[in-house]
Amino acid sequence: MSGIFISFEGPDGAGKTTALKTLMPLLQAKTNQEIVLSREPGGSPISEKIRKIILDIHEEEMDPRTEALLYAAARRQHLIDVILPTLQANKIMLSDRFVDSSIAYQGGGREIGMKEVANINDFAIDGHFPDLTIYFDVTPEVGLSRIRKDHEGEMDRLEREAISFHNRVYDSYMKIVKDNPDRIKTINAEQAPKQVVSDALDAIIKKFPNIFNKGE
Ligand SMILES: Nc1ncnc2c1ncn2[C@@H]1O[C@H](COP(=O)(O)OP(=O)(O)O)[C@@H](O)[C@H]1O
Ligand SMILES: [Mg+2]
Repeated sequence: MSGIFISFEGPDGAGKTTALKTLMPLLQAKTNQEIVLSREPGGSPISEKIRKIILDIHEEEMDPRTEALLYAAARRQHLIDVILPTLQANKIMLSDRFVDSSIAYQGGGREIGMKEVANINDFAIDGHFPDLTIYFDVTPEVGLSRIRKDHEGEMDRLEREAISFHNRVYDSYMKIVKDNPDRIKTINAEQAPKQVVSDALDAIIKKFPNIFNKGE
């Protein structure tokens, strides 16, 4: 495996998807290796079908462990269909969310237990952790207020959860970040969008100086 795998994590409304749109071409301009951008849950045909079930606001009776297993299943298929082929082709994989999201949302948010959710995800990802994870640090209050301002009517099943759920997600992310200092780099996502992108870019270049040529 010769490509590199970078995941982007953080609470809802942290600005991951927004930043990636700008970040992707900036990174591509600094390397000859092709960059592939994907997202979770989803990112491949089977995984997108599972995504629809998970995020459907009508699935109110879904059991928390069912939800955790569906995320892990979608992740497995995304890994097989997209991530591993990308890395094998010596390309750069960017994923908008990956395994840490499950540990924070289902493990912490849904209170299944971070260790329990990590275990089923170990089975799903079989050791394929990202080489680098950029954590977008934003408090649940700021993240949710951004989302609500924009598209209250279109919020998905998880985004609609109570503030206590989002506080548990945030606390769990804090623990994951603390436990994985080598893999996860935190950026302040409460800054202006331009600064967030710039900080993410710097963190990636710093980690892979031979792949992203800073001077160009
Ligand atoms: N740095 C920022 N400052 C203020 N608003 C932002 C910032 N980044 C993104 N937003 C806005 O917040 C909302 C959520 O952003 P989004 O990228 O969808 O977050 P995420 O993908 O992390 O859930 C969008 O309306 C977006 O325009
Ligand atoms: Mg997003």
